[in-house]
Amino acid sequence: MRTKLLATAVMVAALGGASLEAMAQAKPDVLVKQRQAVMTLQGKYLGPIGGMLKGNIPYNADVVALNATFLENLARMPWDGFDASTKGEKSKAKAETFTDTAKFKAAAETLEAETAKLGAVARAKNEAGVRAAFGGVAKACGACHDAYREK
Ligand code: HEC
Repeated sequence: MRTKLLATAVMVAALGGASLEAMAQAKPDVLVKQRQAVMTLQGKYLGPIGGMLKGNIPYNADVVALNATFLENLARMPWDGFDASTKGEKSKAKAETFTDTAKFKAAAETLEAETAKLGAVARAKNEAGVRAAFGGVAKACGACHDAYREK
């Protein structure tokens, strides 16, 4: 397990620079599709955790750990899709996304930080911790949508 993780880390380090370059070169309409797809998947994995915390679905710590881990990884993926080249594409991203770039980046980093917290407590099977961390994630989604997504 440990060796496998290490091997993955080395691979990610080796590929990191190159793959980011490749993504930046994707066509603008493809970048929009990709970022929307990541957003859709974030909703997919966040929703059931919310449902469990509300009591709509029975709480399952294994599902919460898996979903939160997916979410933590997904939270790092959409941002290079908001490239300036996509400004003219049809999408729900407001124009400010491409002018307020420092604030948009800060909102993205807030989500990364909040999902990392949620992932850690979820993997520790700490339900009270999940309950406490969930709000921070939901708030990070909502705050960015209020500022940068068309209704
Ligand atoms: C830093 C800003 C930001 C954060 C944080 C953020 N989003 Fe988004 N989201 C956007 C923007 C901008 C769009 C519109 C993108 C587009 O249309 O190209 C969007 C679109 C979406 C969509 C619609 C996708 C589609 O197919 O049109 C969903 C679903 C979504 N977000 C879910 C989430 C969830 C769930 C979270 C939190 C886990 C989240 N987002 C966090 C900025 C953000």
